Amino acid sequence: KMTLSKICCIGAGYVGGPSCAVIAQKCPDLTVTVVDLSAHRIDQWNSDTLPIFEPRLDEVVKACRGKNLFFSTDIDKGIREAELIFICVNTPTKTFGWGKGRAADLKYIESAARRIAEVAQNSKIVVEKSTVPVKAAESISNILSANVKPGVKYQVLSNPEFLAEGTAITDLLNPDRVLIGGEPTGEGSEAVKALSWIYEHWVPKENIITMNTWSSELSKLAANAFLAQRISSINAMSAICEATGADVDEVAHAVGTDSRIGPKFLKASVGFGGSCFKKDVLNMVYLCECLNLPEVAAYWQQVIDINEYQRRRFTMRIVQSLFNTITNKRITVLGFAFKKNTADTRESAAIHVCKYLLDEGAHVQIYDPKVPRDQIMSDLTMAEITDQPERVPELVTICPNAYEAAEKSHALVICTEWDEFQTLDYQRIYDKMLKPAFIFDGRLLLDHQQLMDIGFKVETIGKRLNRDQAKLVRTHANSTS
Ligand code: NAI
Repeated sequence: KMTLSKICCIGAGYVGGPSCAVIAQKCPDLTVTVVDLSAHRIDQWNSDTLPIFEPRLDEVVKACRGKNLFFSTDIDKGIREAELIFICVNTPTKTFGWGKGRAADLKYIESAARRIAEVAQNSKIVVEKSTVPVKAAESISNILSANVKPGVKYQVLSNPEFLAEGTAITDLLNPDRVLIGGEPTGEGSEAVKALSWIYEHWVPKENIITMNTWSSELSKLAANAFLAQRISSINAMSAICEATGADVDEVAHAVGTDSRIGPKFLKASVGFGGSCFKKDVLNMVYLCECLNLPEVAAYWQQVIDINEYQRRRFTMRIVQSLFNTITNKRITVLGFAFKKNTADTRESAAIHVCKYLLDEGAHVQIYDPKVPRDQIMSDLTMAEITDQPERVPELVTICPNAYEAAEKSHALVICTEWDEFQTLDYQRIYDKMLKPAFIFDGRLLLDHQQLMDIGFKVETIGKRLNRDQAKLVRTHANSTS
């Protein structure tokens, strides 16, 4: 029976860092080394200021770092010493060539696999944790076996990660399930057992699901596609609600109490973001096209299209409400991260809302509790966001708090559901703003009646707010809370 003492993870990002920190904490008998090409990232992991913000990540890292958890740029040493290697590198959407804008770019996976083949001196279990198209494990396996050294054997497993940013540590500590895909051979099942042994330190055995490699790879894409589809479904409902006077929160509540449907992930909003949903759904669309399944591809493509429609629709409502022009008007954007409790802005809806506002010539005053200024500026000057990057510093101001961001502004736009936005002093904000003062709640986050009582004109997703309807909203909220 195979026993593990040293493992390595290639890629010290949002997945590699937190997942290895939790493994190190739960498996004191294992030495865990996380390696990365980026010396800057590794320095940050070894410093007091970690490269990513996640609730409780700090305490887990500090409890293990230097004991059985190490961060290093010495990739070759990490590979040589480990019996099991996680590949946790990024798999972004291709920006060029075949499958541009849809297929996953596997160059980082391939170079990690080639590095393993080059430096490994004994047998390894290689675990693909990055999200990949179906059959990527087979490619990794082919690269490894084409470059194999005498006496060295590889087993390639699929072990997709289901953590969500903002709750990464809780998700890792209490996963709904751990998925392990392997080859249906004796050696394959030995490798699956070895990896399963790691998780069994803290995950109940019945929550560790094993299956064939292809099913495992597809399950990750499928899970993200279903989640994104739920958001696009409720957002599509929100458009109907706005057109009819129905209330999307009430509809979501009614639909979600059906036990076959369930209440989670039914919150209408300005749209989903994050590095994964769009990328993984597009990845599946491309896969379907390659498999000559155009109807299936079109079905999933629509999940992305609705998300883009939702962001456009929301921003268009801002312009229309502000008397059809926002040129030179000041607009406050609260929240820039793609969701609360993370500083990650990849594919954040806020980027697109700001883009539309800037295209109309508005001055945008942004406040986010966690996202650094430079990150916001670089997101808004990306080539796909603007063709006039020089205008961005003229039009965008990053503010240290919500009150300064509201100074002399015509409208306040909620883009991220940060808890602290619920407890701001909205009277104080109202007093600083130009009148009529508008609030556009893109996350259905605020107490709309209270805001209207102050004097705000309030617009939100999936409901029409006039005074009578808002009273109903309040009664409903009171009776359910
Ligand atoms: P990331 O971009 O934060 O981290 C990837 C890291 O890999 C970077 O630090 C990069 O420098 C490093 N890297 C790239 N090529 C390398 C190489 N050849 N050798 C050494 N280091 C290398 O990416 P993130 O967000 O951690 O995602 C990783 C994978 O996990 C992706 O496939 C993603 O789809 C998947 N995933 C991400 C989740 C998330 O919430 N971010 C959740 C579940 C899965």
